[in-house]
Formats: sequence, structure tokens, C-alpha cells
Amino acid sequence: MLDNTPSRTAEIVALIRALENVYYGEKSLLKDKYAVRFLSDFYTTIYNRLSVLPDFVSFFVNATSLGLFDFISLRHGFMDKYVRDLGPQMPVLLLGAGYDSRALRLNDYIKHGIWEFDFPATQRRKKFYLRNEQTKGAEVHYCEVDFMKESLAEIFVHAKLEKRPTLVLWEGVSMYVTKEVVRSTIEAVRDYFGKGSYLIYDYWQTLIDHPIKGVLNAILPHAMDIIYNEKFTYGETVDGMRKLALDCGAKKFESYNGSQMMKKLSLTSRLPLTSAAVAVLEF
Ligand SMILES: C[S@@+](CC[C@H](N)C(=O)[O-])C[C@H]1O[C@@H](n2cnc3c(N)ncnc32)[C@H](O)[C@@H]1O
Repeated sequence: MLDNTPSRTAEIVALIRALENVYYGEKSLLKDKYAVRFLSDFYTTIYNRLSVLPDFVSFFVNATSLGLFDFISLRHGFMDKYVRDLGPQMPVLLLGAGYDSRALRLNDYIKHGIWEFDFPATQRRKKFYLRNEQTKGAEVHYCEVDFMKESLAEIFVHAKLEKRPTLVLWEGVSMYVTKEVVRSTIEAVRDYFGKGSYLIYDYWQTLIDHPIKGVLNAILPHAMDIIYNEKFTYGETVDGMRKLALDCGAKKFESYNGSQMMKKLSLTSRLPLTSAAVAVLEF
């Protein structure tokens, strides 16, 4: 990713949320009416073309993205659930917030403020597109950061965050960093916010023992690099991620793949990618 240009993957994720809204209409999991606003002309054209034939196209888009489309919607809906449950009790932090619209969509549940951290280029573009939006309820704190240049503890201090139980969402990022960064993120949440805090992130699941899925698993990181210039650099098995989380002091670790998230969300009609999961760490 280039530091001085807005994240392209954040825009693609917004495109997926915008499409999920038109495809599923009333049955949409996210009902993210804001996502479409963040699309550049290029992605708006794609959105306009893909939103014409909802049923057929949604199946086709999901199949050609190897289930990534449904996985991305599901992980977002799954994390929304934690915001609804915990937002009334504790602050919400979004590490690598991109074009996440929870501050607007879920403001009824966010009672202790929401902090959004991202590269300046992505965050400034987001603020520009939301410049006329009236936010009610949740106070949104925007913080420009580079996670590779500053430690999270320093970032939290600069953002004047209180040391108290906090819900930290880290969505769509862990696969672009190193194991060391994942480890230090877990430790930073443990040390800074302490007992009662949650860290929830999705991760790339490696070493899948399946002939076809294994090959897809090996190809996708390279495809991401060629298409978006944003290569997947880190993946882990469920057991590997559990060990890392518990070694770093998490009191409880849970991992949910797409179908497990569907169960939690009482959904049946999605076909998510199997080589990715969401980790829920409780301290
Ligand atoms: C795939 S996007 C996900 C955005 C959002 N969480 C979502 O799911 O819609 C990854 C986000 O992480 C941000 N990001 C990646 N590396 C970063 C870094 N070193 N410092 C700050 N932000 C970073 C990007 O700008 C981008 O917005």
C-alpha cells in the first residue's frame, strides 16, 4: 500500500457493503447506506453495473471472488453484533477504520465514544465525503496514524484514550502485517485497556489441508498483490492463532469461520470463503 494514497482495499470493502445493501434489500445484514458514498467514479461504475440484476449477480460476484464477498459482509455484521452488545458499556476503537460507517449506523449503541485510526490519506478522504453528514449520538474521534511507524501504546496516549475496558475492532488488516505486529497489537490492548477489554480481528487462515482450497489459499495472497498492490503477508491456523492469543495474555479466545458466523447471525443463504476467520479475544 502507498502511504500517500487512500487505501484501495478500503474502497473495495465499501463497494462490497454497498452491493450487499442493494442485493439483499430488506434482508441486508448491514444496511450500510453510507458505503456507496465513498466510491470513486471507477467503483461507482462497477457498483451501477453490478447492482442491476441482484439475485444472479450476487451469486456470480460471490462465486468469482471465491466467497470473499460473503465473508466480508459476514465479518462486518458479526463485529456489528459486538458493537451493539458492548458499545453501551465501553468505548469502541477501529484500528484501520477505512470507510467503516458504524459511527453513523450504530450510533444508538455507541455510548462512550468511537475512535477511528487510519492513514492520513484514507481518513482525510473519508472525512471529505462525510463533510455534510450530521452525526448524532456517538462522538467520533479521528486519529491519523501509521501503525508501522508508531507503537500502539503511543498512538493510544496521543489519542488521549482512557485506560479502561474497551472494544477494539481490527478489521481487514491483520493479513497485511507481520506476526510481530499482531502480537504487539494483542499485547498493547492487554496492557493499555486491560481486564474486560475485547480485541476482535479477522485473519487469513493458512495451511488448510484440502487439495483445492489449499491451492486457492496459496494463490490469493499473490492475486491481491498483483491486483491491488496490497499483499497478504500473514496467516495462521486456528490453533496457531489461539496459541498466540493465549500466550499474549488473552483470557478467552474464540475463532469463527464464515459458516460459524452465519449460525451466530441466524443466516443461511450465504457462501463465505473458508480460508478466513474472525478471532475474538477477551482479556
Ligand atoms: C482493508 S481496509 C479495511 C478497512 C475497514 N476496517 C473495513 O473493514 O472496511 C484496511 C485499512 O487499514 C488501513 N491501514 C493499513 N495499514 C495501515 C497502517 N500502517 N497505518 C494506518 N492504517 C493502515 C488502510 O488505510 C485501510 O483503511
